[in-house]
Amino acid sequence: VCKRSGLIRSIAEPMEKTVYTTKVLRNGNIAKLQAGYLFPEIGRRRSAHMQKYPDANVISLGIGDTTEPIPEVITSAMAQRAQALSTIEGYSGYGAEQGEKVLRAALARTFYGDFGIKDTDIFVSDGAKCDISRLQLVFGSNVTIAVQDPSYPAYVDSSVIVGQTGSFEKDVQKYGKIEYMKCLPENDFFPDLLSVPRTDIIFFCSPNNPTGAAATRKQMKELVAFAKANGSIIIYDSAYAIYMSDDNPKSIYEIPGAREVAIETASFSKYAGFTGVRLGWTVVPDELRFSDGFPVANDFNRIMCTCFNGASNIAQAGGLACLSPEGLKAMYGVVEFYKENTKIIVDTFTSLGFQVYGGRNAPYVWVRFPGRKSWDIFAEILEKAHIVTTPGSGFGPGGEGFIRVSAFGHRENIVEAARRLKSLYK
Ligand code: MLT
Repeated sequence: VCKRSGLIRSIAEPMEKTVYTTKVLRNGNIAKLQAGYLFPEIGRRRSAHMQKYPDANVISLGIGDTTEPIPEVITSAMAQRAQALSTIEGYSGYGAEQGEKVLRAALARTFYGDFGIKDTDIFVSDGAKCDISRLQLVFGSNVTIAVQDPSYPAYVDSSVIVGQTGSFEKDVQKYGKIEYMKCLPENDFFPDLLSVPRTDIIFFCSPNNPTGAAATRKQMKELVAFAKANGSIIIYDSAYAIYMSDDNPKSIYEIPGAREVAIETASFSKYAGFTGVRLGWTVVPDELRFSDGFPVANDFNRIMCTCFNGASNIAQAGGLACLSPEGLKAMYGVVEFYKENTKIIVDTFTSLGFQVYGGRNAPYVWVRFPGRKSWDIFAEILEKAHIVTTPGSGFGPGGEGFIRVSAFGHRENIVEAARRLKSLYK
């Protein structure tokens, strides 16, 4: 493993002794990727640390993975559906690639009631991350993209893989042809759209992973107007919308005109602890058209039918239960628990005098360490406090000098992490 300019190389090195090679060329786009995917790399470092300190109680506040049990009202619906598969009447095989009608209707009603989204605009899937890659297949290699900087790494990595980018430019830590829209405390984590060049696609995540910042209604109106003026398509990631405390839009479709310029992707992962169950959805309104007038939804449907066989029927039963009155109540209860964790983490870093961002509208806390490298801070906290965080630079050059702390954890671990951080940075 060698470390260069804050990026970690681990899996991309060629094997030293090759006995036999095929005649198949490696995909040059994948070869452009500079490192293993961020979270497996962090997992690898965590394992190495645990080998070094086998007795340490390592606390993981790195990858945002849910930890609390799924409420019983939801798991019992999944159990019932699973049991029914053992009966003649209850058995079902392949379902609709777009998801079960009843779940699509419940999603439309629950999250998009007043915004003109129809159940047929909603595609149920195995998660937002998978849909991001499938959307990249829809757009292909001839589009240009913009991302918030920092941003969730799947947008950039999938763009590189599908061939939309140039090579990685080490001096600036960016891939060629991607527009990195700086989102720092200095600009309220919202890009200066007047200086952003036109791209075909704009990835935008709010509440944001990793910064935790949420765009206001005014900012979102600006974003939609910007896309409309440029004829661009926004891919809006609302995976954390349920964590919103402030009065900001939870869906881009709250903004008039957004149906003509925006796709929205979302997930039950952070809503209901479905990171392992796998269930998400993507909204592609039928008003959204390519330059020749062809509906984007038709091509997304084509990709879903080719690359996906529909979400698990058991998971869909769980999703439907999430949207029942009892399910919603239970789901909000767990979200509230994580929001209390977030407050503990925010208060801890604030009391230590750090510049702390995020946390109010997202389960992520974004902490600034001026003048320091993110991977160094990550290593320091791991070595001295046995706490795994995520280095900000893993989300793009705009994340350098920050770390992200996830609030997903058992309460006793969060409290213990707060104690250790206080002793480390007092
Ligand atoms: C994160 O930690 O950013 C997320 O959990 C990763 C994901 O949702 O894929």
